[in-house]
Amino acid sequence: MDKLRTQVGIVGAGPAGLLLAHLLHLEGIESVIVENRSREYVEHRVRAGVLEHGSVDVLTQAGVGERMRREGLLHHGIELRFGASGHRIDFPSLTGGRSIMVYGQQEVVKDLIAARLAAGGRIQFEVADVAVHDIESTAPRITFRTIGGPAEVACEFIAGCDGFHGICRQAIPGQTLHVFERAYPFAWLGILAQAPPTHDELIYAYHERGFALYSMRSPQITRLYLQVAPDEDVARWPDERIWSELHLRLETSDGWKLREGPVLEKGITGMRSFVAEPMQHGRLFLAGDAAHIVPPTGAKGMNLAVADVRALARALAAFFHSKRSDLLDAYSAICLKRVWRAEHFSWWMTSMLHCFPDGDAFQQRLQRSQLEYVVSSHAAAASLAENYVGLPFG
Ligand code: FAD
Ligand code: PHB
Repeated sequence: MDKLRTQVGIVGAGPAGLLLAHLLHLEGIESVIVENRSREYVEHRVRAGVLEHGSVDVLTQAGVGERMRREGLLHHGIELRFGASGHRIDFPSLTGGRSIMVYGQQEVVKDLIAARLAAGGRIQFEVADVAVHDIESTAPRITFRTIGGPAEVACEFIAGCDGFHGICRQAIPGQTLHVFERAYPFAWLGILAQAPPTHDELIYAYHERGFALYSMRSPQITRLYLQVAPDEDVARWPDERIWSELHLRLETSDGWKLREGPVLEKGITGMRSFVAEPMQHGRLFLAGDAAHIVPPTGAKGMNLAVADVRALARALAAFFHSKRSDLLDAYSAICLKRVWRAEHFSWWMTSMLHCFPDGDAFQQRLQRSQLEYVVSSHAAAASLAENYVGLPFG
């Protein structure tokens, strides 16, 4: 059996696991990542696109923000669109100068993998049967299989960064773990299209036919989403149907037109709110989607992953450098405070902007009133903007 020894064993090479490994490396702490997919697969998985102001700072300070600063798109606002007209929310003036960066999650992942490998970091891709053991002891282990046979990572701590469907959360005893959950009666159909953006900021559209989101990845690529049924079959959405629905939901009475282009990627994302508490048991610490999920309307998923591992890297550094365990003990409480703020914001944006299949005329009037309030009241717009750009780290 192939046996490795390290300080922190990390399960999952998504944004959480990769950034944690990099932040630990900067603190002189060794780690090994085990990931069940291939490098090619994780580098091309199209997901989130918005980085909060604070996430941009974390990546920059960690020395992995160079390409993001060059190729990412700095945005100073978003548009809320309803009743066939647009209303801009200006971030800097509402938040004391904060903004967001539009930069694909898979680009963040590519930058982090390159930085890890350049620093001699160990990422074991394409492993199978990952399991964690002895998490209540001071010598936990991760076991798995590679093409070469069974392998083990012996470590002092395990970071469960293995996403919502991972195995780490399940290793926490059922009587200790409390789960809070909400399912939504819709999903998002997302496309990536080879079409230059026709608007320079994101557009969140509330429409009687359902929500639509206009986003982008580069000066050549648009990213678009449509609210669809939760059990929707992507095969029922040929490109022409997607474009026709996007035109209907996004276009305005003043003649703004959506530009079409070849569809490069198409997929359906379910909508769910989920929090597992606490985010730690013994020497196992959960981070990112392994511990919590938000519906993507608030653009918070990847940002929460960044905030979690920032807190975890600091706590582990305090332990390894100063034998302090107070930050490790406080990890779950520190993260959950931010997680629940993002849960509320994501739920609120989702509830305001989607059509609920069982929603009656009363609910629709409430949503419309809320939208009109947000775009006309300085206080309400500031609240949206403050949450969207992300609250400062505590
Ligand atoms: P992940 O990115 O899920 O990474 C977990 C990693 O662990 C993966 O590489 C996985 O392969 C690996 N793994 C899983 N199980 C195991 C195992 N047993 N052993 C080893 N490795 C394992 N957020 C937005 O803000 N906007 C969006 O549009 C958006 N779209 C999304 C679409 C989809 C389909 C999904 C699933 C999420 C989306 N999100 C979106 C959320 C956002 O992408 C996540 O919040 C973010 O990826 C969290 O990072 P993470 O590292 O915690 O988890
Ligand atoms: C994206 O560009 O993929 C994106 C942007 C904002 C969201 C969700 C997804 O709220």
